[in-house]
Amino acid sequence: ILRSPQALQLTLALIKPDAVAHPLILEAVHQQILSNKFLIVRMRELLWKKEDCQKFYREHEGAKLESLDSDPGRFFYQRLVEFMASGPIRAYILAHKDAIQLWRTVMGPTRVFRARHVAPESIRGSFGLTDTRNTTHGSDSVVSASREIAAFFPDFSEQHWYEKEEPQLR
Ligand code: PPS
Repeated sequence: ILRSPQALQLTLALIKPDAVAHPLILEAVHQQILSNKFLIVRMRELLWKKEDCQKFYREHEGAKLESLDSDPGRFFYQRLVEFMASGPIRAYILAHKDAIQLWRTVMGPTRVFRARHVAPESIRGSFGLTDTRNTTHGSDSVVSASREIAAFFPDFSEQHWYEKEEPQLR
């Protein structure tokens, strides 16, 4: 029963350049993954190409970031892309029975001011610098998790993983 998408969900987690640049913060975030009992399915470090980064956030934010200049979502898109391509990042596929929501809770709110106030112990509450330099990213739904996992791990097959690769949890 454990080896099914119903029982074990996958999410994409990113550690952003602000955190990868600082070994102690990188380690603290990694420890949060372990102490929250996520299973690390895949992990890689990379320097993101600006075009891939643009594509990722364009699809992720959809019309919100792509539309009119007056759209309030747009003003940070360019800054976010520049920042995410500015230094090494670390990408993980994480598994947990409630991976998407749990990782978002462990990260804390997107806005760093809010994170510090409502979730000071969270990753962003502890280490976030600004709304852009906020330490980590996590998928926000099952659909975006699949898309985001494919963007970073194009050879990964969820089906294959559930069926063949996951003996630890049996
Ligand atoms: S929101 O509030 O719904 O727009 O936030 P969200 O969709 O979760 O993530 C938005 C991503 O853009 C980055 N970013 C900002 N968000 C909100 N406000 C400001 N000013 C801002 N600047 C940058 C934010 O870090 C999110 O990045 P990811 O990588 O998706 O976590």
